[in-house]
Amino acid sequence: ERILCIQKQLIDWYEKNHRKLPWRETRDPYHIWVSEVMLQQTRVDTVIPYFLNFIGKFPTIEVLAQAHEEEVLKAWEGLGYYSRVRNLQRGAKVVMSQYGGLVPKELQEIKKIPGIGPYTAGAILSIAYDKAVPAVDGNVMRVFSRLFCIDYDISDGKTRREMEQIGNVVVPEENPSFFNQGLMELGALICTPLSPKCIACPVYGQCRAAQKGIQNELPIKKKK
Ligand code: ADE
Ligand code: SF4
Repeated sequence: ERILCIQKQLIDWYEKNHRKLPWRETRDPYHIWVSEVMLQQTRVDTVIPYFLNFIGKFPTIEVLAQAHEEEVLKAWEGLGYYSRVRNLQRGAKVVMSQYGGLVPKELQEIKKIPGIGPYTAGAILSIAYDKAVPAVDGNVMRVFSRLFCIDYDISDGKTRREMEQIGNVVVPEENPSFFNQGLMELGALICTPLSPKCIACPVYGQCRAAQKGIQNELPIKKKK
């Protein structure tokens, strides 16, 4: 049926078309964690050198947990949003003290770590541990709103949780890592905010908004 088709087409497309990025060469949950925190408010091109430098200086959770805060902040200099890196180090300390240095594999546990919200939790669990959980950020909300023709207001705080319910339904048991990264990649390269490139889209045939020709009117974003 339709969901199976979307899963297969997106995973096949991701395998053939994804960008080679340093955090895609690893399954280390800590490295995935660092990359996702950096990518939350910063573009991919900017993140690459910061990621490589940060992982070089703080290669493990233990090293990060024990590092001097000034040294950690210095490695973040230029990325901005410094609360992100403070939370990251606080999270590393919690993983050391409460989880034996291992990033937990259960959603309920990983979400207790400072700085790991629902999106980051889903990204780490699916990419590092192959858990079938959704990872819904702004890009994924845009793709969902178009693919399923959903008129929720994405500037409304409730919407992310509603989108996660949809994510729970569509994320496959098999290869959730490529599926979630495929959604991110689709949102970054094809299903862009302005003028989505529907003719190049692997799920064009399954897309409700494209069928109706209203992809440019979605997602709904009401001004505050
Ligand atoms: N944006 C958020 N997570 C990402 C990832 N893993 N790869 C590329 N862009 C992203
Ligand atoms: Fe987005 Fe167009 Fe693909 Fe639909 S067909 S998911 S609107 S790029």
